[in-house]
Amino acid sequence: MNAIADMPSSASNAAAHAQRGAPLIDVRDLRKRFGEVEVLRGVDLQIARSEVVCIIGPSGSGKSTLLRCLAALETYDQGDVRIEGELLGYSERNGKRVRASQGEINRVRRNVGMVFQQFNLWPHMTALGNVMEALLRVQRLPHAEARRRANEMLETVGLSHKGDAYPAKLSGGQQQRVAIARALAMEPHIMLFDEPTSALDPELVGEVLQVMKQLARDGMTMAVVTHEMGFAAQVADKVMFIDEGRIAVQGKPREVFHDAGQPRLRQFLQNYFDRNAFWARGPDDEAPL
Ligand SMILES: Nc1ncnc2c1ncn2[C@@H]1O[C@H](COP(=O)(O)OP(=O)(O)OP(=O)(O)O)[C@@H](O)[C@H]1O
Ligand SMILES: [Mg+2]
Repeated sequence: MNAIADMPSSASNAAAHAQRGAPLIDVRDLRKRFGEVEVLRGVDLQIARSEVVCIIGPSGSGKSTLLRCLAALETYDQGDVRIEGELLGYSERNGKRVRASQGEINRVRRNVGMVFQQFNLWPHMTALGNVMEALLRVQRLPHAEARRRANEMLETVGLSHKGDAYPAKLSGGQQQRVAIARALAMEPHIMLFDEPTSALDPELVGEVLQVMKQLARDGMTMAVVTHEMGFAAQVADKVMFIDEGRIAVQGKPREVFHDAGQPRLRQFLQNYFDRNAFWARGPDDEAPL
């Protein structure tokens, strides 16, 4: 018996795709403009299953727009965004492209989870309620099942003791971990993170990065826009430097961070190191930089 042939068609597409070992996300020549300004100017990006890709780049270079296109939160003008082999945002009929229906878009992006800089939790719901919400409304799980899964997800992010707390009573780091649990509850195949730690007090960054590192170790496929170069260096399989709407450099962290020949990348990294440098020669040196 062919198990794949017996699945409903969308599941069968995804499963067949997985078997072929094709990229989970496959972006070709992606272009997006806001009015006169072309913000994405031909982005090519492939993310394999279980791969962690970190995206770095200057403010305004198009990082958030790129992630938003991958989650269908933004439409794109040209190129292909394929998720597990399926074209996102458009359908092809007789060789022509037409905008896909919202139902079709939702179907193709159902396995994409996203975590934002601002956690966007419902203030009137507890941590548990926030994680359960989409399970009840979107997946239409029975209440007890949604509750069980939400508790499991809170445990994954180290917050099983905070299920009854409202967001206002949680630290920023805890709120962001609830947001991660909420995305994970939908059992995504890929998680997109847009600067998940940049709204946090520096002391709270570590706890969120820790959760993300564990996810990476567990084999989650991830695309992470971040300014945390240490995280990118440790966790990424691939680092991409995006500049003016194009991927200007990509490679293994060592290649990108240590052998940066590209002038814009060098300048970007130099700015970063200057901002984060504290002492000229070491902590015993009296002259801070
Ligand atoms: N909805 C929008 N309407 C018009 N212009 C937009 C919109 N969203 C983004 N832009 C513009 O597109 C460009 C890229 O924005 P984007 O948010 O993707 O950059 P970014 O790399 O994420 O920057 P940052 O590091 O500051 O978050 C910017 O010039 C921005 O002003
Ligand atoms: Mg951004």
